[in-house]
Amino acid sequence: MENFTKKAQLQQHLQSLKAAGAVIGFVPTMGALHVGHLSLIKQAQQQCDVVVCSIFVNPTQFNDPKDLEIYPRPIQDDIAKLQQVGCDVLFNPGVTEMYADNEKWHLDIGELEGLLEGKFRPGHYQGVTQVVFKLFDIVKPAAAFFGQKDYQQVLVITQMVKLLNMPVKLAMCPIEREADGLAMSSRNIHLTAADRQHALILSKTLNNVKANFDSNHIEQLTQNAEAAISAELGLTLGYFEIADADTLRPATQTTKKVVALVAAMVGKTRLIDNVIVSS
Ligand code: PAJ
Repeated sequence: MENFTKKAQLQQHLQSLKAAGAVIGFVPTMGALHVGHLSLIKQAQQQCDVVVCSIFVNPTQFNDPKDLEIYPRPIQDDIAKLQQVGCDVLFNPGVTEMYADNEKWHLDIGELEGLLEGKFRPGHYQGVTQVVFKLFDIVKPAAAFFGQKDYQQVLVITQMVKLLNMPVKLAMCPIEREADGLAMSSRNIHLTAADRQHALILSKTLNNVKANFDSNHIEQLTQNAEAAISAELGLTLGYFEIADADTLRPATQTTKKVVALVAAMVGKTRLIDNVIVSS
């Protein structure tokens, strides 16, 4: 695997590959790689000739400095995992390679960035669009692969690509889960054994909503879900929303594409999860 920390060198490498006709697939990450991330690499490998993965813990998308500080950065393990799955290129820049001093610009992608995660993490999606814009501009991939795990992020990036008319095809890949249903996340390592058990209520409740969606009212399903999560020891609910899968506005009984999304503090760790109820 080729490993670059400088954008100019990465671009030079990719230019010669593109000139030879290679289709470049891109998987942006913040590292601490797990099976979920690697599933994106595998998906990219199926559709592209060369797969580039970036590992960059983007400071501008963290609204809590403590969260940024404790974000895991096991780079040697990550490199080994990427090599194992046969990733072609790693881009692992430092902060000064990605940002000039005091860089303040952001993109306004509209209502979507202020809903749900955006409401709980003000400025988060401005940081995400800022860094993904920069990464797309450096790598110029034909296709980029994101996880359904961060459902709102996929919609935000889709909106950015549409508004800026960026020549990249986006793919949303399914959520990889542990055997007991917990969605894989780089943050799961912060869970205590007890947190880990209590966290299972999130995927259980989402599955329950999906299973009972056709025979129940949305308000009732939401109330039951909120009650089940709030009753679980060690959990503090952020939101549980049954939403329109395109806009993330609250769904009504006539909404065709529906997604249920949840965020909760589990002990000291904030987890998110979702399930596509109908598509
Ligand atoms: P990160 O949290 O590292 O996630 C990188 C990609 O892996 C995202 O597209 C995310 O949705 C996907 N992913 C995470 N857990 C997954 C799982 N259990 N199953 C499938 N895919 C999963 O998302 C980010 O980084 C950043 O916001 C980034 C886009 C890199 C911009 O900084």
